[in-house]
Amino acid sequence: MFALLFASLAGIGLGGAVGPSLPLFTRSDISIREAPAENRLQLLRNPNPRLIKANTRKALRARRHNTPVATETANTVFSGVYPCVNLTWGSKTPGEPGQQIISYIDTGSSDTWAVSSQFTCADIATKTPQLQSYCNFGNYFDPTVGIFDNITNSTLNLEYFPEGDVLQGSMGIASITVADLTVLDAEVALITYAAWDNGDGASAGLLGLGYPALTSASAGHYDPIFTKMVKQGIVTDAVFTLAVDREEIGYSPLAPAGQMAIGGLVDASYYEGSFTSVPIDTTSGFYAITHLLVYGATSRARPLTFGGTFLSIVDSSTGPNFVPTPSANAINALFDPPAVYNATLDYYVAPCNATVPYVAYVIGGVEMPMDPRDMLVRNLVAIEGYDDVCFSAFGDGGDATVEDALFWIGVVWQHAYVIAYDQGNSMLHFANRAPY
Ligand SMILES: *[C@@H]1O[C@H](CO)[C@@H](O)[C@H](O)[C@H]1NC(C)=O
Ligand SMILES: *[C@@H]1O[C@H](CO)[C@@H](O)[C@H](O)[C@H]1NC(C)=O
Ligand SMILES: *[C@@H]1O[C@H](CO)[C@@H](O)[C@H](O)[C@H]1NC(C)=O
Ligand SMILES: *[C@@H]1O[C@H](CO)[C@@H](O)[C@H](O)[C@H]1NC(C)=O
Ligand SMILES: *[C@@H]1O[C@H](CO)[C@@H](O)[C@H](O)[C@H]1NC(C)=O
Repeated sequence: MFALLFASLAGIGLGGAVGPSLPLFTRSDISIREAPAENRLQLLRNPNPRLIKANTRKALRARRHNTPVATETANTVFSGVYPCVNLTWGSKTPGEPGQQIISYIDTGSSDTWAVSSQFTCADIATKTPQLQSYCNFGNYFDPTVGIFDNITNSTLNLEYFPEGDVLQGSMGIASITVADLTVLDAEVALITYAAWDNGDGASAGLLGLGYPALTSASAGHYDPIFTKMVKQGIVTDAVFTLAVDREEIGYSPLAPAGQMAIGGLVDASYYEGSFTSVPIDTTSGFYAITHLLVYGATSRARPLTFGGTFLSIVDSSTGPNFVPTPSANAINALFDPPAVYNATLDYYVAPCNATVPYVAYVIGGVEMPMDPRDMLVRNLVAIEGYDDVCFSAFGDGGDATVEDALFWIGVVWQHAYVIAYDQGNSMLHFANRAPY
């Protein structure tokens, strides 16, 4: 609907050199500029899409180690969608370049961490100590060379659901550079213990981009890196923007995967039309928005079925969309052949050549559909028996009627949009990606 409107408006300008330009923001009180070039950095594709954390792999592992198979689900099967950035941890020696740590970007958490070269690796199931190489991280942070001032009474203990990976470390003060912006006194964690289920061989860190409320140090909440950038005036606009590319089958590890801009918008070539703005519901501490869900067998199947109004977290590190159970069932039944729930994988799966339905989130009154190319995610790893399995982009997020129900708008949807996370105005702004 929106795209058609834009096309017809642009058409009015035919004959002139330039058509009438739409406002950059549909709300006249919002104005955000493009971030300076040096603060727009390239996102990097997941280093090892061939690793999926799924029951299948668990089962294989359990068989190898002769341990019982737990009834775990497969929330990270979409691993190939998660982008990384190169983060710089500063050096103790003035003038020396810092250490580059390949780090996942996460709008759904707020702690930033890196693995110390002095960490202990353990097996995830048995917790028995292993060689560091067993955990298979990328380049570690070396605390003998880099700045890390231990806050001795504050620790970070993370556990990842559902795989049960455990990370433990100390909070401390380090100098962190993202793009061209440095926070000299960033509060971060150095991981000294990891019970980790096979790293990807390249990453050894994470950049948490959420609000202070989501920080999880033992000594209490603190200001994460982006908040410090804002408070210290390192960025004047309290906004960062993400344009995350859809992954291609067979991409190279760490290939370009889109753009992140700190303190403004990404390069204008990434989007077209106007940004639609909606308030962030900060109750949960997440970047959550209230929206509608509509769907039909095809985009022409009007009127569309109304899937409800609910609250979803926009998270750069959740792959699929999670919607209320009735909508998940109905949407998956509209694939042809239908996507069926697979209890082993805990996802809806369909043949990779299935016809996909039309599904859109209605955000700020604008219908923002899934790109059909993102409706089925191919299993990027050729596990025997799963070579031709594709995952539906819509998973079962549970009951929408319970108190504080929260759902997820995943990376699959985000591939077709540019999203500005505007802490200053407490809003998210969405524009269509320019075709790519
Ligand atoms: C990360 O940064 C380092 C230092 O600038 C560079 O050598 C390395 O190639 C970068 N990695 C990627 C994947 O861009
Ligand atoms: C930080 O200090 C605590 C308390 O002395 C210690 O247990 C911990 O290992 C230290 N962490 C690092 C990364 O040096
Ligand atoms: C941690 O130590 C700092 C500095 O010594 C102190 O100000 C703070 O109250 C301590 N916090 C806790 C939770 O013990
Ligand atoms: C899940 O999908 C795989 C691959 O198609 C299949 O082998 C397995 O039996 C399915 N499990 C269930 C419970 O349907
Ligand atoms: C989809 O692929 C299957 C084999 O995986 C094939 O039997 C079927 O004919 C294909 N359907 C279409 C519509 O191409």
